[in-house]
Amino acid sequence: MRKIVINGGKPLSGEVAVSGAKNSVVALIPAIILADDIVTLDGVPAISDVDSLIDIMEIMGASVKRDGETLEIDPRGVKNIPMPYGKINSLRASYYFYGSLLGRFGEATVGLPGGCDLGPRPIDLHLKAFEAMGASVSYEGESMRLATDGQPIYGAHIYMDTVSVGATINTMIAAAKAKGRTVIENAAREPEIIDVATLLNNMGAHIRGAGTDIITIDGVETLKGTRHQVIPDRIEAGTYIAMAAAIGEGVKVTNVLYEHLDSYIAKLEEMGVRMTVEEDAIFVEKQGELKAVSIKTSPYPGFATDLQQPITPLLLTAKGRGSIVDTIYEKRVNHVPELARMGAEISALGGQIVYQGPNELTGVPVKASDLRAGAALVIAGLMAKGRTEITNIEFILRGYSNIIEKLTALGADIELVND
Ligand code: EPZ
Repeated sequence: MRKIVINGGKPLSGEVAVSGAKNSVVALIPAIILADDIVTLDGVPAISDVDSLIDIMEIMGASVKRDGETLEIDPRGVKNIPMPYGKINSLRASYYFYGSLLGRFGEATVGLPGGCDLGPRPIDLHLKAFEAMGASVSYEGESMRLATDGQPIYGAHIYMDTVSVGATINTMIAAAKAKGRTVIENAAREPEIIDVATLLNNMGAHIRGAGTDIITIDGVETLKGTRHQVIPDRIEAGTYIAMAAAIGEGVKVTNVLYEHLDSYIAKLEEMGVRMTVEEDAIFVEKQGELKAVSIKTSPYPGFATDLQQPITPLLLTAKGRGSIVDTIYEKRVNHVPELARMGAEISALGGQIVYQGPNELTGVPVKASDLRAGAALVIAGLMAKGRTEITNIEFILRGYSNIIEKLTALGADIELVND
């Protein structure tokens, strides 16, 4: 079994470049099924979710050429076959195949999605949108079948009961070639939604309002090939910024779009974190004493649920008491007992995390329970005295490209060990 081993307490310094956004690229790749020609993506991160999606695309008949961070995908050979359950189950974002297969073939048979255990993760809003567009939903064993009765799907007026990134993107993808106009109300506003809309519009789609809570899509007959640069990963950026503030002595995080991190930077400044914002980089100095703060997550542009775990080790260095409430995933607290075992004064009580700082952490064997919990444990291990061993690291490798190389270059004593 593979694990990450860290000998902590070594200050980090130097420069780290943020890669392309996982939560954008996992939608961009399935969306390419809608194109009638080759689509090239630049800035694709080296993460295992991308490997899984490439496997799935090739199983379906697409041809994919990968050269470093560039992916050239020719979707013309894609057949509408039942999706392979094993691969589909390896990541949550496989649900984007529902939208693109519906949009191209008017039907899709796909295994139910997997992904991190953050508590219940229904896809009712995705299905409600597809049904409004004329698809019927049925279940065949582990798979779900979406089908129209041979008619192309048509535009619909859809109100999202909950703000949902996935349902917003999936509906946009399905609507790009639907007959007529689709309006999505109460749409999510994340930057990844704008990135997917930009790709589709450059392929010839007519999407307006991405990034606001009302998105209008007028379906078109065909979508052509294009070339697209994936936006930087704001969650990876936030993870390295927190790490730099917790254990750094001057770290520059590059390829950062500051405007994607407004609420996050504001919270760091409230703590007293000293950093300098440059054109597309953030320089984080060695910190003095920090002040404990409280955090409440909310949909973009609020404080991202994906960053409440990575910022927690930094919070533990601050003086005072604070709390964290994740309004999106109440159960996203599996990192808390692991941090407590490292000596942190932290606990999760009925949907609220409370902590008291400052804390001296000690390295012990810990287990990653999901992607961002794993990131939190890596940061805690870098801060802790002694040796930290992290198992279940496949979660981490799903979303953080070249994390061992990036941290080693910053001076960390970290390695990936096959036990
Ligand atoms: C996306 O997940 C991200 N994943 C998640 O990042 C992120 O935490 C989440 O958005 C929230 O921002 C990808 O983009 C691949 P949602 P998604 O639909 O789309 C409820 C990471 O660490 N909901 O915005 O699955 C849901 O239960 C991952 O990179 C429904 O009720 O999340 C949640 O409470 C973890 N019905 C809320 O909406 C639905 O049909 C927001 O979920 C869909 C969602």
